[in-house]
Amino acid sequence: MGVLRIILISGMLIINTVYSSENLIKTGKQLARSCTWCHDTKRELLAPSFRDIALRYKELPEGEAKEILFNSIKDGSKGKWEKWEKKGVYMPPQKPYFSDEQIKQIVEWILSLD
Ligand code: HEC
Repeated sequence: MGVLRIILISGMLIINTVYSSENLIKTGKQLARSCTWCHDTKRELLAPSFRDIALRYKELPEGEAKEILFNSIKDGSKGKWEKWEKKGVYMPPQKPYFSDEQIKQIVEWILSLD
């Protein structure tokens, strides 16, 4: 990761803490671009769509939904989505690539989808 990118990301994080959750969601969307070779927002690719994920967990209390998604993104997930388990695909852990703060932003964005 280049220094410029680190500065940019730190800048975005500061801005997000200062401003509204709308900014959090926007940053989450940008961060989730790197997930698009498996996940689309609406269509099924190599994984459930982000919209389907949001729908599945929206029923749960917000804190619980956030925790589940946070852990799945950070440490990966396997077997929760039967269709994808049958295809032998699973969710690779993202912790080498994203900070906890960034993962939280992605979760905000996913749960904002409907
Ligand atoms: C190699 C393909 C692949 C990539 C890349 C990938 N995912 Fe996934 N993801 C999957 C699959 C497959 C599942 C279903 C896992 C299961 O059955 O438990 C999944 C499930 C999920 C879930 C739901 C987990 C749950 O608890 O139900 C979330 C949230 C998610 N991915 C977010 C992301 C985000 C955010 C990124 C990018 C930072 C990403 N994924 C990148 C394949 C991928």
